[in-house]
Amino acid sequence: MLPLSYRGTGKTEVEAYASGILMKKKLIIIGAGGHGRVVRDIARSNGYRRIFFLDDERKDGIETLGAISDFTRYLNTHVFFVAIGDSRARARITESLVKAGGRIVTLIHPSATVSEDAKIGIGTVVMAGAVIGSGSTIGDSAIINTNSAVDHDCVIRDFSHVSVGASLGGCVTLEPHVWVGAGATLINNVDVCEGCLIGAGAVVVRDISERGTYVGVPARLMRLPDGTRIN
Ligand SMILES: CC(C)(COP(=O)(O)OP(=O)(O)OC[C@H]1O[C@@H](n2cnc3c(N)ncnc32)[C@H](O)[C@@H]1OP(=O)(O)O)[C@@H](O)C(=O)NCCC(=O)NCCS
Repeated sequence: MLPLSYRGTGKTEVEAYASGILMKKKLIIIGAGGHGRVVRDIARSNGYRRIFFLDDERKDGIETLGAISDFTRYLNTHVFFVAIGDSRARARITESLVKAGGRIVTLIHPSATVSEDAKIGIGTVVMAGAVIGSGSTIGDSAIINTNSAVDHDCVIRDFSHVSVGASLGGCVTLEPHVWVGAGATLINNVDVCEGCLIGAGAVVVRDISERGTYVGVPARLMRLPDGTRIN
């Protein structure tokens, strides 16, 4: 029997895969929630045409191929993106994918402005309207959300999240697993230690070296990681 051609490309599926055509088109997004759907839109704008979801829970109106652990079935046929907001869960799943040899992609919306000398890590998404300035480095599996700004020479480490409309001045460092809330502002040259949460609308004006949740203008410690309320 003649091999089936792959959707009009004149190539067999194996040839198409080898030449990148199929690989470019078969993407599994892990996490079918709201964040996953935004990621799907960005993946479409990046040229992916065959996009599937894996999730442990049923999400309304979204068909999945199965549970997250089912990714092992697709390691040779699909590339992956982990679209889970919780950074610790995102890290756990990313680690198992990498260990198993899964290929994780980076997604950048065409309307984002990324400096030519900025670096963007694997598994990171840069969403619509985001700006990443000259000399900035974004680590792996980070989220640079819609309309956020990361100015020049910033270092955003792995699994951090700069939420919708947040602004980081030049030379800001976010250690791993920092979550900057929507519309928050970090002035230039501040460093934020691992695992901190900066509340929506907060203004960070000095380094943060104690882990916790910070809110307000200027931002102050509001909650410790164990949940204890401070202010
Ligand atoms: C900061 C944040 C994590 C606090 O969550 P929490 O620990 O559950 O806090 P609570 O809701 O129990 O609120 C505790 C107090 O902090 C206040 N507070 C909460 N968030 C605040 C914020 N962003 N700025 C100022 N005060 C805030 C509350 O009003 C409350 O004050 P009160 O007890 O005097 O009334 C949360 O409100 C927040 O801002 N999350 C960011 C969400 C976000 O930006 N998502 C974007 C997705 S792209």
